[in-house]
Amino acid sequence: MNDSIMLKNICEQPNVVADCLAIELPLSDRVLSAQRIMLLACGSSRHAGLVAQHWFETIAKIPIQVLDAAAWTDRSPLVESNTLIIALSQSGKTKDLLEALTQIKAVTPEIQVLAIVNGSDSPLVHLADSAIVTPAGPEGAVAATKSFSAQLVILARIAVNLAEYKSLISPSIVPVSISKLRTDLKVLPQAIAKSLNNLQRHIGKGVGLDWMVSESIVLLGRGIQQPIALEGALKLKETAYVHAEGFGAGDFCHGPMAILKPGFPIIALMPDQKMRSDLDRFQALGCTVIGIGKRGHECLPGLDQVFELESIADWLMSFLIVLPLQLLAYDWARSRELNVDQPRYLTKFIG
Ligand code: BG6
Repeated sequence: MNDSIMLKNICEQPNVVADCLAIELPLSDRVLSAQRIMLLACGSSRHAGLVAQHWFETIAKIPIQVLDAAAWTDRSPLVESNTLIIALSQSGKTKDLLEALTQIKAVTPEIQVLAIVNGSDSPLVHLADSAIVTPAGPEGAVAATKSFSAQLVILARIAVNLAEYKSLISPSIVPVSISKLRTDLKVLPQAIAKSLNNLQRHIGKGVGLDWMVSESIVLLGRGIQQPIALEGALKLKETAYVHAEGFGAGDFCHGPMAILKPGFPIIALMPDQKMRSDLDRFQALGCTVIGIGKRGHECLPGLDQVFELESIADWLMSFLIVLPLQLLAYDWARSRELNVDQPRYLTKFIG
């Protein structure tokens, strides 16, 4: 039932990811030899950047800061000339990002700016020194779904290429097998397709689930899944207008958990043993805990609802974890008879 553009965009992700794996990445030596990275973005693009931060740190061993482009002009961040600026934007037209880059270029003209965009003819491409255009195709719905996955693939591939470049110069710095990482990436389109097929037996039908009577929800993730908790919360806010908040699972227990009460829904992303003991406490308080993780994972049984995904390399699980969150946002919005493709007050980008 592809009766909305958002659902169509969600279902296109296996092909989009395959296309993003197939394109050439025009990465110059100047880009590959960067000593540090600053990634600037807004909204969903910033969340993709926060996922990629983990890859750049753990795989390519390169220091990276991910910054909210909308807050750039309120600060005075120091940019060294050996920094690579990655400007990440679906539209390539977001005013806050363009203003931040213009300011950076004015102060440090020699800085390298690599743009990652989903539209080749955008102001961002003209402002940048080089650009990678993601082949996601036009994303008609306001809420980013397939463009988010496209950004993730390109960022994962850049991290692997940086690791490869570094390993040629000093093999001890990057103790990972580059060919293993590339093999991990190859299975993504099929894993996304299979996960979507299985999920769509239960969700993505435009029907609300029992716990969708709540006006609030919390999403918990640890490490690389924390930005996916933020992204899932953004999808739920944008489309279903519910008060959804994403937290680091550890930080949630340092105060925010006081908001819990019987019936409060909590979505737990890839719970491990440590998170599971907190989830048991939340269930004892009467909360409804929904778990998302790999099929057969030992921390999922006993939760109130479980969505299981294909089993792929841990470093790439964010590609799958975000899928049920996109479908749940769609269902919650449709069950409230909202226009999922064009939510109130929002535009595709703020120009
Ligand atoms: C916001 C949109 O205005 O812009 C978000 O509502 C989007 O969905 C954000 O993620 C950033 O847009 P872009 O095009 O720069 O990635």
